Amino acid sequence: MKYATVFSVSLLSSVGAFPGPTHNKRSVNSTLFSEFTRAAKLAHCAYQPICVSPVGTTRLHTIYNIIFDTNGFVARDDTKKQIIVAMRGTSSLSDILVDLDNTLVPYTSTSSTECSGCMVHRGFQNQWNAVVADVIEKVGEQVKAHSDYTLLCTGHSLGGALTPFCAVSLEKNFPGKVTAISLASPRTGNPAWISFVEATIPSAKLFRLTNQNDTVPNDLTEAEGFKHHATEHWSPERPVTEGNMVVCNGGEDASCNKGHSKENAGFLGINEAHFHYMNVDFANSTAAEC
Ligand SMILES: *[C@@H]1O[C@H](CO)[C@@H](O)[C@H](O)[C@H]1NC(C)=O
Ligand SMILES: *[C@@H]1O[C@H](CO)[C@@H](O)[C@H](O)[C@H]1NC(C)=O
Ligand SMILES: *[C@@H]1O[C@H](CO)[C@@H](O)[C@H](O)[C@H]1NC(C)=O
Repeated sequence: MKYATVFSVSLLSSVGAFPGPTHNKRSVNSTLFSEFTRAAKLAHCAYQPICVSPVGTTRLHTIYNIIFDTNGFVARDDTKKQIIVAMRGTSSLSDILVDLDNTLVPYTSTSSTECSGCMVHRGFQNQWNAVVADVIEKVGEQVKAHSDYTLLCTGHSLGGALTPFCAVSLEKNFPGKVTAISLASPRTGNPAWISFVEATIPSAKLFRLTNQNDTVPNDLTEAEGFKHHATEHWSPERPVTEGNMVVCNGGEDASCNKGHSKENAGFLGINEAHFHYMNVDFANSTAAEC
């Protein structure tokens, strides 16, 4: 089943609000809020078949692999001095979440000796490994021409699942440059892999956004051997504001999305909250800033 089908179900229901935890910081500054909003818009553009200028940036390259159905783009933002890799993941959610389900395999995307004991989701890694050489080459050309630019990896849903893979691969090749902002990502690998991601990308540049009771971040569970990386930033309410966004405790904070969404809800359990991030409506393709 394709994403289009999910969108067409048109999950219109009440907006709803969830009580924010009291022990966590509630609010982010305007810089971070605008970074997150921009990342959501870029991730939204990754779903559009035609997007010449994603959120005002210059699109340079289409990332595509037919076998694993990997899709995304490389773009350059000369105002922010940033090179962007935005991933759509796959259009076939059922392939990934149902067929491949919870199969963990050894991590091989960078030198495997660097990440001993790391096990990752087979489907996500296959998708990333199908394009990693191409992405590194295209980003490398840009880094060479614009050595003062930073790098951003982003994506929503399965594109979000590819974000830590993207971030680690790019950081290993272009040290000190990468920021990772994933949205609505399922868990991607075992605790050793998560430690590796967190050791590779500094915490000030590693973000995982969740919304309300989105079930996708809980589809692959800790009981199945998976873990989430830090730092989760959870939106208990819509619209999301600087003042109501919650900075969670690390990657597995039971008072954030995890405590409000169902485990193993699976494909049919995908809910309306999955399509609303940073006030961007992922179910509305005409809203994309392309
Ligand atoms: C998510 O929250 C909304 C709004 O409160 C509610 O209607 C819906 O049933 C919840 N869905 C799941 C899967 O928990
Ligand atoms: C905004 O918050 C982030 C995270 O706490 C921090 O790293 C950054 O320096 C802050 N930026 C400004 C301009 O205050
Ligand atoms: C989709 O987005 C467009 C552009 O922002 C807007 O005009 C339209 O009302 C939206 N449609 C829905 C169903 O929200």
